[in-house]
Amino acid sequence: MDIVQKDYGYMKIIRLSIIGFGTVGQGLAESLARKETLLKRDYGLDVRLVSVANARHGFIYRDEGLDISTLLELVANRRPLAEYPAAFHWNNALEGLQVTGGDVLAEVTGTNLRDAEPGLSHIRAALSEGMHVITANKGPAALYARELFALAREHGVQLRLESTVMAGTPVISTLREGLAGAQVLAIRGILNGTTNYILSAMAAGREYADVLAEAQSQGYAEADPTADVEGYDAVAKTLILAALAFGRSLRPEQVTRQGITALTKEQMQRAREQGKRIKLVASLRLLSEPPVGDREASLAARVEPTELPESDPLARVDGVLNAISIQTDTLPEVTIIGPGAGRIQTGQGLLADLIAVAATM
Ligand SMILES: NC(=O)c1ccc[n+]([C@@H]2O[C@H](COP(=O)([O-])OP(=O)(O)OC[C@H]3O[C@@H](n4cnc5c(N)ncnc54)[C@H](OP(=O)(O)O)[C@@H]3O)[C@@H](O)[C@H]2O)c1
Repeated sequence: MDIVQKDYGYMKIIRLSIIGFGTVGQGLAESLARKETLLKRDYGLDVRLVSVANARHGFIYRDEGLDISTLLELVANRRPLAEYPAAFHWNNALEGLQVTGGDVLAEVTGTNLRDAEPGLSHIRAALSEGMHVITANKGPAALYARELFALAREHGVQLRLESTVMAGTPVISTLREGLAGAQVLAIRGILNGTTNYILSAMAAGREYADVLAEAQSQGYAEADPTADVEGYDAVAKTLILAALAFGRSLRPEQVTRQGITALTKEQMQRAREQGKRIKLVASLRLLSEPPVGDREASLAARVEPTELPESDPLARVDGVLNAISIQTDTLPEVTIIGPGAGRIQTGQGLLADLIAVAATM
């Protein structure tokens, strides 16, 4: 990182690499371009995007920085990144990153909940090279959070992952910074927008299959909806919260999981008539006193359809919205409601992480 004097006063130059240039990577780049003046004026940050990579076209690097509108135009026209004028090119993102480095890596390749690759290797390499990492990728965060935080500590850098849970809605920073010093006792959340959209429509009288097809056509659900409707995506987020709020690395099979595919329109409507709502709720709850010494308190982790009374703050969170309710020893209940997905919404979480990281540089 360099510090130079510019029109705005002293300016930190942040050399940023974005690996994964799909919806979220492009959304982050777009936000950086749109917020260039704000970042300089309010935070004294000159963010230079020095490298970008995707799977099809590999990794490009330009020491002076890449022009974001040129990059976005290339991908919009389905042109290879390597066509960017006067940029160095590697076929493989990991190789390119290891040669060129930077101050911060934004890792936004696709989530893989089996082995967390390729994100895991990108993040390990960046942290080991002394780069800070910000990520929206749930795989490494869900399966390797403790190892990666330890690696970050070892190399004196930060790993931030706001966008892995509820996109840019500030959940992780609330847990890590806003609730510093509080003992989290329990967390409940609606952490998957696709299933919440489907359940909200079923409560209004629609059939599961019709709503799923509509959600797929509107881009809310994947062509293969298994990760959402069977609860695996919510399990990944539950693992991330277990690591961040309770310091526990749970394995996916330690989370009791039930998806929404067995629910019927009739069940949903009956619950509604009784003044209740059925939601896919992810929950974590300490079962014993907070840990003393090496002993770990036991933690119940579940993702399952749950009937909630209408007075519950989660009951009225409908459509693609997400929500989380955190119970602590000092604040009985803190509830946050907000978007859980989207190009700019997820980019916002990464932007907040980037600003937080830059403040430590
Ligand atoms: N979309 C959301 O609203 C949202 C919200 C929260 C979190 N997230 C997480 O954010 C991450 C990105 O999501 P997305 O929606 O942007 O996914 P996406 O549109 O599928 O983009 C993924 C990008 O990663 C690239 N990629 C895959 N393997 C790579 C490799 N080995 N080296 C370099 N690039 C590679 C892909 O390249 P190609 O373009 O060549 O295929 C693509 O550009 C995911 O982990 C997702 O779970 C997304």
